[in-house]
Amino acid sequence: MTGHTAAVTGATGFLGSRLCERLLEDGWNVRGLSRPTSDRGDLEGVDWHVGDLFDDETLRSLVDGVDVVFHLAGVSLWNASPETVERVNVDGTRNVIEACRDRGAGRLVFTSTAGTRRPPDDVMVADETDVATPVGAYQRSKAQAEQLVDQYAEADCDAVTVHPTSIFGPGDEAFTAQLLSMGLEPTMPAYLPGGLSIVGVSDVVDGLLAAAEHGTNGEHYILGGENLTYNQAVSRIANAVDGSPARIRVPATAIHAAGPVAEAASSVAGVRMFPFDRQMAQLATQRLFYSSRKASEELGYEYQPLEDHLPETIDWYRSEH
Ligand SMILES: NC(=O)c1ccc[n+]([C@@H]2O[C@H](COP(=O)([O-])OP(=O)(O)OC[C@H]3O[C@@H](n4cnc5c(N)ncnc54)[C@H](OP(=O)(O)O)[C@@H]3O)[C@@H](O)[C@H]2O)c1
Repeated sequence: MTGHTAAVTGATGFLGSRLCERLLEDGWNVRGLSRPTSDRGDLEGVDWHVGDLFDDETLRSLVDGVDVVFHLAGVSLWNASPETVERVNVDGTRNVIEACRDRGAGRLVFTSTAGTRRPPDDVMVADETDVATPVGAYQRSKAQAEQLVDQYAEADCDAVTVHPTSIFGPGDEAFTAQLLSMGLEPTMPAYLPGGLSIVGVSDVVDGLLAAAEHGTNGEHYILGGENLTYNQAVSRIANAVDGSPARIRVPATAIHAAGPVAEAASSVAGVRMFPFDRQMAQLATQRLFYSSRKASEELGYEYQPLEDHLPETIDWYRSEH
């Protein structure tokens, strides 16, 4: 799609900055939404539109006449209160949709999360049809935003939703840095029970581009990677780089116990200790495995093994930590 124009919200984030780099490499014209305070890094060549998801005029000029709108901007409970999560992820998505409708923008590719789907039990693998009852404000907000996008797609417009699993790659101080510390740091002796699907950031970027080009209007696509227990993931990281794998599995009961404590502290003190409540604590100890078969068959999506993503990610981790 060389010569086409894309608008990217969340362009200054972990995933969005990688998407912008790739779009520029592939010859797209790229417009990025940036808040005045955002760190735009060294993304040269992006046409920045400065404002936020609640600045209607900026949003309209961002999406005006573009071929594809990649809506990635969002917040999670790691960096925002439940109220802000709902406002940014739901109302912000509504504003992007309104701007697209108003300016007749091309296809909307919305980035949700695999968390709105869940395996029926601990031995199964979830696909797009396994719609879950949301746990916590983040999943709830993404599920609501998905409905808005689905309604937009049904109303003779053009939109697809992608559901990345846990994204691994340079620049992510949250999940990636924590997982690497479990595989590399002798001072980090514990790993979590349960398991997850780990997908490299470059694979998710491929999936976003494939969804823009080959996705079917109104459809949802899980963009996952390898399904690994934490134990497997941590051992593979350690083996690949001669690190010190975390050897002690945190007992599930300890994590389950932490949920009510955080919940009680939050309600009594009015302070959010960490993004934990009882239900999230239960979820943290399960195997949350996902199938990317639909994306593979319909979009040509492929993911690479964890080891392929380690060199650049470990280089980043070592330079930053
Ligand atoms: N990382 C994962 O493992 C993962 C997994 C599944 C789904 N996702 C989804 O993928 C998307 C990108 O995630 P990420 O990991 O790249 O997150 P990130 O690094 O935290 O980036 C979030 C982006 O959203 C922007 N943003 C937040 N609030 C905004 C507002 N009010 N107005 C305008 N922009 C705003 C941020 O701008 P600033 O730079 O100014 O903060 C940043 O550019 C999110 O929707 C996330 O829910 C992520």
